[in-house]
Amino acid sequence: MSHRNKTLHTNQPSLLSLHGVAADGDRRRMERLAAKLHRHNYLYHTLDSPEISDDQYDALFRELEGLENRHPELRDPSSPTMRVGGDMLEGFVKKEHSRRMYGLENIFSDGEWRAFAERMARVLPGVPISFWCEPKLDGLALEIVYENGRLTNALTRGDGVRGEIVTRAVQTIHTVPLRLRGKGPFPALLEVRGEAIICKKDFTELNKRQEAQGRKIFANPRNAAAGAVRQLDVAVAQSRPLRFLVYSMGNVVWAPATPSDCHHDVLRRFSTWGFLTPPDGRLCAGLAEVEEYVSSVRLRRQSFPMEIDGVVIKQNNLKAQKALGYTARAPRFAVAFKFPANKAETRLERIEIQVGRTGTLTPVAVLEPVLVGGAVVSRASLHNEDEIARRDVREGDTVIVQRAGDVIPEVVGPVLARRQPDSTPYVFPHVCQACGEKAHRESGKAAWRCDNLFCPAVRLRSIEHFVSKAGLDIQGLGSKWIAQLVESGCVKTPADLFELTIEDLFRFERMGETLAKKFISLLDKARREATLRSLISALGIRHVGEQTAYLLAERYADMDELACADMETLLSLPDIGQKVASSIINFFDSPANRSLLARFRALGLRLRKKTAKDETGQSPLHGKNILFTGSLSLPRSRAQQLAEAAGALPASGVSKKLDYLVAGENPGGKLQKAHELGVAVISEVEFARLLQFDDGQQAELARRT
Ligand code: IVH
Repeated sequence: MSHRNKTLHTNQPSLLSLHGVAADGDRRRMERLAAKLHRHNYLYHTLDSPEISDDQYDALFRELEGLENRHPELRDPSSPTMRVGGDMLEGFVKKEHSRRMYGLENIFSDGEWRAFAERMARVLPGVPISFWCEPKLDGLALEIVYENGRLTNALTRGDGVRGEIVTRAVQTIHTVPLRLRGKGPFPALLEVRGEAIICKKDFTELNKRQEAQGRKIFANPRNAAAGAVRQLDVAVAQSRPLRFLVYSMGNVVWAPATPSDCHHDVLRRFSTWGFLTPPDGRLCAGLAEVEEYVSSVRLRRQSFPMEIDGVVIKQNNLKAQKALGYTARAPRFAVAFKFPANKAETRLERIEIQVGRTGTLTPVAVLEPVLVGGAVVSRASLHNEDEIARRDVREGDTVIVQRAGDVIPEVVGPVLARRQPDSTPYVFPHVCQACGEKAHRESGKAAWRCDNLFCPAVRLRSIEHFVSKAGLDIQGLGSKWIAQLVESGCVKTPADLFELTIEDLFRFERMGETLAKKFISLLDKARREATLRSLISALGIRHVGEQTAYLLAERYADMDELACADMETLLSLPDIGQKVASSIINFFDSPANRSLLARFRALGLRLRKKTAKDETGQSPLHGKNILFTGSLSLPRSRAQQLAEAAGALPASGVSKKLDYLVAGENPGGKLQKAHELGVAVISEVEFARLLQFDDGQQAELARRT
């Protein structure tokens, strides 16, 4: 809150008056002081760029207050001293609006917007299509009346016909000019309409102060703003960080004439008179431009300083507005394009600690299901131990849940006003809930981790990840079955999945032959169709998501090459930094991970990049002349058989036409000749890899070697 709000002290009549100094001089001084104070108030509160210090402001303020006390007859209802609420109202008096304050029709989609705009166009053909669009503010609608440039009255919207007189509270809002700024001429009568709001930052501060003082905690900025305006104790209204933003008008008797036919120009005129208007308004030339604006505000919704819940779209031409008129409830020239509510309140039943595939312990809020932004939310992220402590979220609390765009819902914080008196702060467990081992939190890191390689939860998560969309995308396995397979010990690593047999599956209750066969064929298909990219991503290397996996698969021809990559070459890749590079190196350094890769290879998974030929289903050996030399780990005849099955042509000797010489141990003369002729000499391992591009027999070969 600004210092200038604190000026609550009231001066006693000063000695000066006893000496009877000319009242006329005092009157002029009072006018000058009032003008100065109005200007500095505007610079400080509305423009956010003060020119004098709080002390200087207070000194001027006190001088004026002293003079007003000495000359109560010269006290002006638009004096800056009216910003101070020392008085108490007895009740609210109602008053009729000179023109009805309508609500707005709500729409939620581009389709509805088009229909609304078409209706406008039908009623008023030929009017240029120009719309003034601005955020829809979530606060309390007010009408403030000025007569000849001075604030005389302020009303709530009430039922639209009659509102409550809230002049005293409104006078304490610093962004409401008590006198219009500038020289005039001012309208004889001006009714501005707008919203009293509390900005998000001010709201957080306000609640902190309220809590420190043991007072009511507000559920949201709108409630706090509405409550502040409808306060009989004016000092309370004054102590709340309200702002007022103008977006339309009621009755205006312009003097000398209407400044323009455009809503937009009128708003500009209002700002020259010292009003704030909603941020980021835009004039849009057509329906599509409006749609673009709506999406852009929707995307940036969280970054606005105040809560907004949509966009208001208004026909910019005032004559057209008048011609379009109103339905029984709302204008035909304006509409509210609402965003789905992205926040909701619900009960936090308990906090569950989820063990991630890398062992990170993530607290998750288990919620009473609630509709947020069009989706039912029953779990939400609580990030980590520090975040829970910072927000002081406790089990049993009523909490605010938020969904921003497509991101995972999160718990914003507790509704302190609804906290049970017996609740206790949450204590983060220092033991992994899944395996019972001690968890660790490295200094400087936010997360607790379970480092137990055999933690069943870590295993389950890594297998879930392996089959997920981000991994091999094996659809149809069902997470319940995966959990059973892991819990039973049948599947310990992702490679175990591919060795499951129908008999293994039969052991499970409710697993029939059809389902078991389906699973086996799904897994077999996944094994055959796995690509280098999907495998890298499926491994679940920390900090290597699908995007990085794609990049790595582009850069490296096969998994072995990636496994041997050093820091320097990894860092030379775009988008790979120290953190990702170290994580990749650590992963392939682990003997457990290396043996997992070896098993994948043995199982015939594709650890090499696909080539164009692969797309046609052909082996890279197809049509190649091949010859073997030296002793191999499998019988020469078997190797030849496999090569032929892959489409290779057996050669009888080394010639220029030879594509591959597969050299085993003690190769002899053929090797020499191949070198001389520049023929590709490959090892048995490389041969095996070439074979792996084909499915069946290659796997078999790998199994045997
Ligand atoms: S214009 C005749 N502009 O939304 C048109 N209203 O749901 C008058 N509101 O009662 C309203 N932000 O309190 C307009 N930028 C904005 C607004 C806005 C919030 C409120 C207003 C109105 C309610 C209708």
